Amino acid sequence: MKRANYLPIEWLGDRVRILDQTKLPRQEVYLELSDAQSIASAIKELKVRGAPAIGVIGAYGVALGALGIETRAIAEFHKKLGDVIQTITATRPTARNLFRMLERMEQVADAGSSVDGIKKALVEEAIKIHTEEAEATRKLSEFGAELIKDGFTVLTHCNTGPLATTGYGTALGVIIHAFEQGKKIKVLATETRPLLQGARLTAWELKQAGIPFNLITDSMAGYFMKQGEINGVIVGADRIAGNGDTANKIGTYNLAVLAKEHRIPFYVAAPTTTIDLGLKTGAEIPIEQRSQHEVTHIQGVAIAPTGTSVQNPAFDVTPNKYITAIITEGGIIKPPYGEGIKSICK
Ligand code: MRU
Repeated sequence: MKRANYLPIEWLGDRVRILDQTKLPRQEVYLELSDAQSIASAIKELKVRGAPAIGVIGAYGVALGALGIETRAIAEFHKKLGDVIQTITATRPTARNLFRMLERMEQVADAGSSVDGIKKALVEEAIKIHTEEAEATRKLSEFGAELIKDGFTVLTHCNTGPLATTGYGTALGVIIHAFEQGKKIKVLATETRPLLQGARLTAWELKQAGIPFNLITDSMAGYFMKQGEINGVIVGADRIAGNGDTANKIGTYNLAVLAKEHRIPFYVAAPTTTIDLGLKTGAEIPIEQRSQHEVTHIQGVAIAPTGTSVQNPAFDVTPNKYITAIITEGGIIKPPYGEGIKSICK
C-alpha cells in the first residue's frame, strides 16, 4: 500500500510539525509545536483530529512536556510530568486512543530512574507509538479491502484517512487500498455537519488519492440507500466497547440504522488501540459535548439567529447489532463481538 504524500504529523527531534486540519482544504498550513500546552490546544481546537492521530500527537505532547521540565530532582520531575499528562488528558474525552497512549507514556516514565533517562525513553516511546499506529492502519486497510468488491459504491462518514490516523487511514484506508488494488469503486462522502470533516477533509484526501467520489449532505444518505446505489457503508471509530458497541462521529448511528433497513453491510474499521475492554457496553462511553458556535456558524459565518440555543454532541454510539463486521489490524471480527474482540486484543 502506498503512503500518502502529505505528512499530518512529523517528529522533528525537538518539536512536532503538523498539518493544520482546520485550514484545509483552502490552505495547506504546517505548524511547528514545541511544548505540551500548544499540543493540548491543537487537539482541543481540532488542528489535529481523528482518534489514532490524537493518540499519536498526545504522546509527542508528553515527550515535549518532559523535555521542557528543567529540574533534575526525580520527584519534582514526576510531579510536573503528571501535570503535563493531566493537561493533555483534559482535551477530548471520547477517543480511546488518546488515553491508551497517555497510559503507555506514563508507564514508561514510571519505569525510569533518572530524569535524563526518562526524557530519552519518552521520546523513543512516542516515536514507537507513531510507527505502530501507522502500521496498524496499513494492516487493517489491507484486511478490510477484501470486503470491497469491484464495482462497489461505498458510503463513508466523517474523515478517517491519513489525516485522522497519521498512517494509512481506517475506513478511508480500506477504500484507498481497494482502489489501489485496481477495483473500480466509487465513494459517497457525507459532508459531516457540524464541522464538515467529510466535505473539507475526506473530499481533499479522496482527490489526492484520485478516487472517484460524490459529496452528499448527511440527510441524503437514506435517499441513495433506497435507490439501491450503495453497496456498503464503512466508518471509523473513536471508542469501541468490549461488546462491539461503537462511538463514532455524530450521525454514524443514523447511517447504521438506515443501512440495516436497506440490508446494506455496515463496517467499522479501527486499530485495536480504539477498543476499550474496560467498558462492557457503549452506554459507558463518554460523549464529548462541543461548543454551540460549531452549530450556529459555518466557517465563522452565522447561520442561525443570535441567541439560538443549541445541542452539540460530537459523537454517537452505534449498538453492535447494526455492525456487520469490525475491521482491525488483527483481522476482521464478526458477531458475536464479545468473544472476537477479546481474542484479537489478547
Ligand atoms: O471530532 P473528530 O473529527 O476527531 O472525529 C473523528 C471521527 O469521528 C473519525 O471518524 C474517527 O476518529 C474514526 S477514524 C480516524
